[in-house]
Amino acid sequence: MKRVLSLLLILAMSFGLLACQEVNPTATTPAAESTETVTDVPASPDSSDTEENTETGAPVSTDGVVTDDSAALDSVTLKERYADTFMIGCALPLDLMKNPISSGLFLEQFNSITMENEMKPDAMLNQTACIKALPASYTEPVLSLSKLDSILSFAQENGIKMRGHTLVWHSQTPKWFFTEDYTANGALVSKEVMLQRMESYIRQMITYCEDNYPGVVYAWDVVNEAVDPDAGNDPNGYRTVDSMWYKVVGPDFIEAAFTYARKYAAEGVHLYYNDYNCSLKVPQLKALLTKLHDKGLIDGMGMQCHLSTSDKIANAVYYTAVSLAETGVMISITELDIGVGESSSLETQAMKYKVLFERMEEAQKSGKLQIESITVWGLYDQRSWRPGEQALLFTKTENGLEKKAAWYGAMQASDILAIEW
Ligand code: XIL
Repeated sequence: MKRVLSLLLILAMSFGLLACQEVNPTATTPAAESTETVTDVPASPDSSDTEENTETGAPVSTDGVVTDDSAALDSVTLKERYADTFMIGCALPLDLMKNPISSGLFLEQFNSITMENEMKPDAMLNQTACIKALPASYTEPVLSLSKLDSILSFAQENGIKMRGHTLVWHSQTPKWFFTEDYTANGALVSKEVMLQRMESYIRQMITYCEDNYPGVVYAWDVVNEAVDPDAGNDPNGYRTVDSMWYKVVGPDFIEAAFTYARKYAAEGVHLYYNDYNCSLKVPQLKALLTKLHDKGLIDGMGMQCHLSTSDKIANAVYYTAVSLAETGVMISITELDIGVGESSSLETQAMKYKVLFERMEEAQKSGKLQIESITVWGLYDQRSWRPGEQALLFTKTENGLEKKAAWYGAMQASDILAIEW
């Protein structure tokens, strides 16, 4: 049975699936050209009569028992599997962090956390308090910093390290932050005032975390999604459309954010530029990374990697990472998920996860890349920001949260084929 499925998979793939762009609701870029890359085809695995659990895609034998290799993997967790290689992270929303079942699974499998929304500017900035505290708050915005306590203490108590996501972003940042009176319809402040607000915001976020929970946040996404040559006409390819930062400060806002972050971050805390669809904007990203790296302002490039089963890992992730790393920065995969396309399957998804982890592990071990962490963007499919795409490693069934074939892929189970990438 498994051999038949494998053959079908090989056939399907030999027709060539188009590489397509990473998912991002704000993206307006066209799909990437297909870069058909087929690597060594390993021999078909042993065919003990196996098929897939239709709900999770996990490999099981016809009598319902998980196949040998997968069964052996069940005694190991993701964070154990990659303990010597890179940190393994997961994005969580606050309610799942507080739910014992979800947080139990999270703590079992992961050693790095990113808050899905709770540390973004729209969650941290307190409009009522900003207005009330005028004029003192004119250049010193008021933040709801105590909201961070339950988040950071969860991480601290459980020995989990955190990626701070995200300080400066065009999205999930209220327009009122940029106005004279902190109301949505107020006149925009000057560039100088906005830079003072930016410095204050970055200082408050970084120092609150560091002073109260030292060592928990190991990396900050200082600037998120600022490069998009198709979203405006900036000569560097920076996004101008929908960006209040660009509108009020101009293209200098990126370097300013890194300058402030460097000023306040503790030694050893890593500063990242984070972006999506990286394979489509390598030249612009490299120019930005080089500029920041030459000034000692940046440590890492975060590649979001919101992928689909039709994406080529080679192009969308591996060679893009290698090229970006030439600028001297380390790499993290910061928001990984792989949506299952309509004509695709959970098995193809598992294969993609496998190839990605395999290649990144190899790149790390051979020294081709310096990879700090790989983070999946959510714990289980039903709570993914991409509903209906079954993009993650776990699924919720009537039996609880279960591993999908994708999890076995991420663990590099030998009975999951990874014939093309
Ligand atoms: C997403 C969250 O997952 C959603 O819950 C929210 O509604 C929108 O933002 N790039 C990023 C992440 O950097 O912060 C985004 O997270 C996904 C795309």
